[in-house]
Amino acid sequence: MEGYAPGEWPALDSGVLKLNSNENPYPPSPKVLAALSEISGELLRRYPNPRGQSFCQVVSDLFGIPADWVIAGNGSDDLLTLLVRACADPNRRSLAYPMPTYVLYRTLAAMQPADIVEVEYEQNGTDWVLPVEKLLATNAAVTLIATPNSPTGHRVSRLDLRQLAEGLSGVLVIDEAYVDFAGVDADKASLELVRAFDNVIVLRTLSKGYGLAGLRLGFGIAQPGLLTGLLKVKDSYNVDAIALKLGEAAIADQPYKNACVKKIIAAREQLSTDLQGLGFKVWPSQTNFLLVQPPQENKETAKSLYQGLRDVGIMIRYFAQPGLDKKLRITVGTSAQNTRMVTEIAKLL
Ligand SMILES: Cc1ncc(COP(=O)(O)O)c(C=O)c1O
Repeated sequence: MEGYAPGEWPALDSGVLKLNSNENPYPPSPKVLAALSEISGELLRRYPNPRGQSFCQVVSDLFGIPADWVIAGNGSDDLLTLLVRACADPNRRSLAYPMPTYVLYRTLAAMQPADIVEVEYEQNGTDWVLPVEKLLATNAAVTLIATPNSPTGHRVSRLDLRQLAEGLSGVLVIDEAYVDFAGVDADKASLELVRAFDNVIVLRTLSKGYGLAGLRLGFGIAQPGLLTGLLKVKDSYNVDAIALKLGEAAIADQPYKNACVKKIIAAREQLSTDLQGLGFKVWPSQTNFLLVQPPQENKETAKSLYQGLRDVGIMIRYFAQPGLDKKLRITVGTSAQNTRMVTEIAKLL
């Protein structure tokens, strides 16, 4: 099998501008750093709470759902792994998802192994149309929908998600890693589906909006029946004590997260305008990254821009796969970082 290839990881002191993994350009809340300085030896001496109970309680308080509807994961990647481990196997129970999407889904299926059904998004201008009927027809054990999606940046409509939840006999995974960037109350909408359907799980992460990619903490929200199945196949202590403690502080500080998100959204719109000014096609984004196509629509231009930026210490993402190989995915940085990048792109063009 092919392994998942994460974005390159330059050393922290290298001065490289890392815009290749959709991390938040701002540090986490000062309250998180304060909680870090208060970590006690006693907390570390013991195993963590196996269910991450007090973290789940903070999530429960924020969203007004019962605490036993929450599961903590070592990043949302861990929860995706649990879902595939619990629900899929070859010849019998397959995995389905629309393409293009988060590349890890394919890797997880290969690891299991499980059969996969990949259904192409239909494109209408810069709109991505979810092939709902085709996904329903696959009758997969697990259907994975990233929304907002990577690398396209678009959000799947509530109506499409409801149709899938209603029509699928298997599990519907709504992977909302980027939901914090999708507008006010976007993080509430899919919870209605969790309340209404026992086959729906919503995944969230602290890696993006909360600026905590290094902590490795995510959570899932679903009815307890579904979670019972996932708990059977998780590592006993899948989330460490520090992550749980700091996660509580992060979730509790919504004003800080919202302020960072607001700055990133403003920078995203400015970056989009600047790149369009250079002749790029830019897809509308509800995330902290942009999918863009350079003015010359060919593989060579996209690849050489990626390489040229890399040579001057700026890392963005190039995907050498059909449908994406003429495009680039750029994480939104601070305004100053984006300006530096746009200046370099203009020189390279
Ligand atoms: C769509 C999507 N889901 C999940 C993740 C993983 O997030 P985490 O850091 O919580 O494992 C990513 C990371 O980039 C992502 O793009």
